[in-house]
Amino acid sequence: MTTTEQSTTDAATAGSHATEIARSGAATFRTGGGSVDQQRAASVIGAALEGIRSAIREQKVTYEEFDAFKRWLIAVSDTGEWPLFLDVYLEFEVEKVAAETQDGSVGTILGPFWLDGQAQLSSPATLPMRDDEPGTPMILAGQVTATDGTPLAGAKVDIWHTDDEGWYSGFASKPPAGNLRGVVTCDDQGRYEIHTRKPAPYTIPLDGPTGQMTLAAGWSPWRPAHIHLLVTAPGHRTLTTQLFFTGDPYLGNDVASADKPELTLDPQRTGNGDEIRSDRDFVLEPEA
Ligand code: BEZ
Ligand code: FE
Repeated sequence: MTTTEQSTTDAATAGSHATEIARSGAATFRTGGGSVDQQRAASVIGAALEGIRSAIREQKVTYEEFDAFKRWLIAVSDTGEWPLFLDVYLEFEVEKVAAETQDGSVGTILGPFWLDGQAQLSSPATLPMRDDEPGTPMILAGQVTATDGTPLAGAKVDIWHTDDEGWYSGFASKPPAGNLRGVVTCDDQGRYEIHTRKPAPYTIPLDGPTGQMTLAAGWSPWRPAHIHLLVTAPGHRTLTTQLFFTGDPYLGNDVASADKPELTLDPQRTGNGDEIRSDRDFVLEPEA
């Protein structure tokens, strides 16, 4: 995902598509939407503005830098990169605040690359993929239960991840629509088994303003390889999480600060060619 030609096309596609999804509010499954009262608005917006003002004072920001900041903000809008920028640099803090009052399995950020309306599959399931889909065949399996241990029959595991080259279907031109995405319905014991390919680490798009800001600061633009999951069951809070891989060179230095030690998989060879397997159970808390 780092060649200039591909990322030029794909940064623009990814940005505008992620903006459309954010604008539509399709991801309000996390929050239920809602409005903000005046006191709260003054408190949160006031604190955010004061954070920026104090950076200006402490860093003695010049007019030249202020004007460069304006141009950068305009570029973020023009390229549709607000969802990308916010999910890279701020979502993990919002997720940490949310986690303070949550029970059940450990979660992490959603990111900008979830898509609604993907293939509906029954466990055991193979994700939609090309006939010659590259990468290590991988099985992810486990059980979804409630916090009291009750198996959640018919729970759904919405899964999406990159291909072996670090590309997301729907946001990059290379993989076909729906590739390596699906919503898998668990069996009557809440068990799921998903056959896919091991994903690869990737950089955020480097040609847009978020990537350029990251490089300008000398920060790593890489995300460790990961699998995104939304685990749902009626009457239970949706779990938004990701699973990472032991030994990944970018663990602990995730540009989106979303990796957590509890979310690391250590897949083992199954003996069937180079296939690997990891087992991971999910616990959902009752809806508040
Ligand atoms: C992702 O995991 O897909 C992602 C998260 C935050 C920013 C960019 C990508
Ligand atoms: Fe991702």
